[in-house]
Amino acid sequence: MTENLRMLFVDDEVKVLDGLRRMLRPMRDQWEMVFAEGGEEALKLMEARPFDVIVSDMRMPGMNGVELLTEVKRRHPQTVRIVLSGQASRETVLKAVGPSHLYLPKPCAPNDLKAAMDRLCVLRTVLEAPRLRGVVGEVECLPSLPTLYESFMAKVAGNDARVDDLGAIVAGDVGMSAKVLHLVNTAFFGRSGRTADPMKAVEFLGLETLKALALTVHVFDRFDPSGPMCLDVGQVCEHSLQVAIRARRIAVSMGADAEGAEQAFIAGLLHDVGKLVLVAKLPEEYGQAITLSGSQGLPLEQAERKILGASHAEVGTYLIGLWGLPGAILEVLAFHHCPRKSQEPISRASALTAVHIANANANAAQSAARPYVATPVDKEYLRVLDLENAEQVACAAAV
Ligand SMILES: [Fe+2]
Ligand SMILES: [Fe+2]
Repeated sequence: MTENLRMLFVDDEVKVLDGLRRMLRPMRDQWEMVFAEGGEEALKLMEARPFDVIVSDMRMPGMNGVELLTEVKRRHPQTVRIVLSGQASRETVLKAVGPSHLYLPKPCAPNDLKAAMDRLCVLRTVLEAPRLRGVVGEVECLPSLPTLYESFMAKVAGNDARVDDLGAIVAGDVGMSAKVLHLVNTAFFGRSGRTADPMKAVEFLGLETLKALALTVHVFDRFDPSGPMCLDVGQVCEHSLQVAIRARRIAVSMGADAEGAEQAFIAGLLHDVGKLVLVAKLPEEYGQAITLSGSQGLPLEQAERKILGASHAEVGTYLIGLWGLPGAILEVLAFHHCPRKSQEPISRASALTAVHIANANANAAQSAARPYVATPVDKEYLRVLDLENAEQVACAAAV
C-alpha cells in the first residue's frame, strides 16, 4: 500500500489557510495536510519531517514565495514545489519560473489540485528512489546544443526577432523544447490544456515573454563542450534529433495523422532527456554505468539500473512528467526500450512504435562512436505488429 502524500500549504493569510482546509477536507484520507502561516514556519516544519509537496503563496511578508521555494529547492530538492497565487502579473510569474515546478492560479478548484496530485502519484511509481527524485527535482533547465543556443540568443537579443524563426530553432533542440513545453503546460502563463508542440508553445509565449525568459530569467543554457563529461552531450542531442526525424517519418508511413506524426517527433526529441539529467547531475555514477555497459556488453539502461537504481527512461519520464507534458509523451519516454511493457493498446501507428524503431535504427547507424551498448530492438513487439524487420520499416519510411 502506498503512503499518503504529505503536503504543506503556506500562506500568510489565516483566512486563506482556513479556506484551503475546508475545501480540501474531503481529501484528508489521501493526503496528510499541514498548514503554515509563513516561510520560516514552513522551513521549520520541513526540517522536522520532510514533505512530498509544498504549495506556497507568492506575496508574503518576510520571506516571499520565491525565496521560500528557492530555499526548499536547496534544502529538500525531492519536494515538489507548487505556487498557488492570485497574482498574475508577468513579472511575478517570471520570478516563479525558476524555483517552482507548477503554477496554480488562486482560487484553485480542488479538482485541479487533485488532478496534479494524482499525476504526481503515478510519476512516483515510475521513479521510486527518493534520491533520484531529489536529483530530478533540482533540474531547472537542460543543456542545449551550443550552435542552436547561440543562434536563439542572438535572434532574441536582436531587433528583428520573429516568433516563427525562434520556434524553428527551439523545435530542433531537446533542452529548449522541453523548457518551453514545461512553461506552457504547467500554467505559468495561464494556459490550460496540454500541448506537446514546441512551435505552438513558442507562439503562445510570444516574443516579449521569450525575451524575458532567455535574457532576464535565463531559463535556457548551453552545454560546455570543453568540460569533462562521461558522455558526449552533443552526441545525445544529435541522436535525439535524428530519432525525432526518423520517428515522424515512420509514424506517417504507418498511417498516423498529422497530430500523431508530430507527437512521434517530439517524443523522439525528448526520449533520452534522462541521459542529459544524469550526465549533468550524477556524472561519476553515470560514468560507471557507461563503463559497466561497455565492459560487460550490457545494454546501457540495464547498467544504469545496476549502478543508479533506475534508467534514463524513468529519470526522463519523471522530469517531463513534473514539467506537465501530456501522458502520451510520458508513455513513450518510459517504454522506449521495452514497448511491450506499456499498458496502452499496441499499434503500428503509435508514437511509441515509431520512436522504438527510430531509436534502434539510429543506434545501429551510430554504433562505431559509442562507449556503451545500446538496447536492441524488441523483435517480439515487432512480430506482434507484423513488422519483423525494423531496418526495412525505417528504410521504407525514409523514401
Ligand atoms: Fe534511451
Ligand atoms: Fe536513444
